[in-house]
Amino acid sequence: MDGKALAERVRAEVAKDIEELGRPAGLATVLVGDDPASEIYIKRKQEACREVGIEPFDHHLSAETTEEELLALVGELNADDRVTGILCQLPLPDQIDEDRIIRSIAPIKDVDGFHPFSAGHLLQGSPTFVAATPAGIMEILREYEVELLGARAVVVGRSNIVGKPMALLLLAEHATVTICHSRTRDLAAVVREADVVVAAVGRAGMITGDMVREGATVVDVGINRVEGKVVGDVAEDVRGRAGLLTPVPGGVGPMTIASLLRNTVKAARYQAGVLAFPLD
Ligand code: GUN
Repeated sequence: MDGKALAERVRAEVAKDIEELGRPAGLATVLVGDDPASEIYIKRKQEACREVGIEPFDHHLSAETTEEELLALVGELNADDRVTGILCQLPLPDQIDEDRIIRSIAPIKDVDGFHPFSAGHLLQGSPTFVAATPAGIMEILREYEVELLGARAVVVGRSNIVGKPMALLLLAEHATVTICHSRTRDLAAVVREADVVVAAVGRAGMITGDMVREGATVVDVGINRVEGKVVGDVAEDVRGRAGLLTPVPGGVGPMTIASLLRNTVKAARYQAGVLAFPLD
């Protein structure tokens, strides 16, 4: 499944949406510290914004930033009308309480979908912002007409960013969903039952060919660096077993950024009043 090609189409759609909205949209990105991987992600997000006509506002703070300083910045961004979306890159340094920062972002600007307000709305079936990675995966599955109604879906990984929202989105499409994690007994036996597997553990080659049912759809969320190469959570030998598979790179990654752009348009619509935000 080609996430790169689909992402290009989504970006063209977003560019059109921005033009039709007729108001500026802006995405503030906040990066604390100098993690090289995070720096690359932020650069990619900003470039993608520029390409579709969303103004990026770049905030890069030192690794020694205090929680109060970061809260003050988020407060300013919440109040700034040019900023329609706010993204605080995770992970944050140890001296900062991540949950507190996420909660400080105005829910109407929470384009990452990490705020408990956004997560709660997704849980109850009326989403505002859905986290970009699972949202992008759903769009890939739709594009390739993967049957979800009544299908057995297994999500490996239970993070707030991917695993949990992913499970909720699959459930909303009437799949029978199982969430597996590091304490799951006989992971291979559970995964073998799946029509759709989403691997989001962060361990290279964790899902092997013998764990995958012939013809299953396999989504690889992993981004692992092994000997200078980026590889997924899905081992090479799955290729011969899966009916459909997302490659790494070129699968989920590009769609994550495309979904962030979609969320930023949605935020701009909420703030323009052309879409009702469920707080009022
Ligand atoms: N860290 C890893 N993935 C993400 C993401 O999608 N958004 C943010 N803000 N931080 C991340």
